[in-house]
Amino acid sequence: MAKSIAVAGKGGTGKTTIAALLVSRLCQEGKVPVLVVDADADANLGPLLGVTPKKTLGGLRETALKEVKNLPAGMTKANYFELGFHEIIEELNGFDLLTMGRGEGPGCYCYLNSLIRKFIDDLSPSYKWVVMDNEAGLEHISRRTSGDIDALLVVVTENPLSLQSAISIGDILSDLGSRIQKKYIVTNMIKNNNRREEITRRLSRLQMEYLADIPFDPQLDDYIFRGDSLISLRDSPAADAVAQILKTIGG
Ligand SMILES: Nc1ncnc2c1ncn2[C@@H]1O[C@H](COP(=O)(O)OP(=O)(O)O)[C@@H](O)[C@H]1O
Ligand SMILES: [Mg+2]
Repeated sequence: MAKSIAVAGKGGTGKTTIAALLVSRLCQEGKVPVLVVDADADANLGPLLGVTPKKTLGGLRETALKEVKNLPAGMTKANYFELGFHEIIEELNGFDLLTMGRGEGPGCYCYLNSLIRKFIDDLSPSYKWVVMDNEAGLEHISRRTSGDIDALLVVVTENPLSLQSAISIGDILSDLGSRIQKKYIVTNMIKNNNRREEITRRLSRLQMEYLADIPFDPQLDDYIFRGDSLISLRDSPAADAVAQILKTIGG
């Protein structure tokens, strides 16, 4: 079974960057294939890995609503979605990318959500790792459209609002029961060393282990500014910290 890591936290804390660094490192270490799930409506993860996603689950949902009433004879709704899901997955060198895209409009999507979850659960065994980038609200995790998770990294920065988000995430998670094996706090881009301790103290009531500190990395910042794929990033302190994270959770 694939090992799965999900990244969560307030917008701007570096979730997508960290998810991309995780994928990059796994590819560099040959721990492939990796299933990359971009579960943030903004869909920024593909571009950091050098891919512009063509199709999204949100798009499939929209067309499905129109077409599902006129399916060809012999095709069930489930067959239709299964085909659609396979078309959304982009196969790249070392990893496949599944982009969730925009969230749901009005209406009940329970049936589709359960299909999505089953699809991801069925897919997972063909991969060594699953890496998932989330939006702050954890929509896909709380709607159970994401499959089970071995390690959740909750990213915080010096922005006090990011600590508030971590606390809200803690609350959402405690309602979800045991679908997430391990929950961790990761600090990112901390400029003032004294604050690291203060941050972990403020978050100590959450049942999350403090896993790692990822430094602000000017080279990484340049890569992202230029639009270069993080797959080729090497000799970077932030990438090294992410490698250490994989060592800890990968066993
Ligand atoms: N460790 C880091 N070093 C340098 N820049 C970083 C680092 N982490 C994140 N960034 C930058 O911070 C910004 C926000 O990161 P992003 O991953 O998009 O956050 P999120 O996905 O949580 O909204 C981006 O411009 C990214 O380049
Ligand atoms: Mg993001």
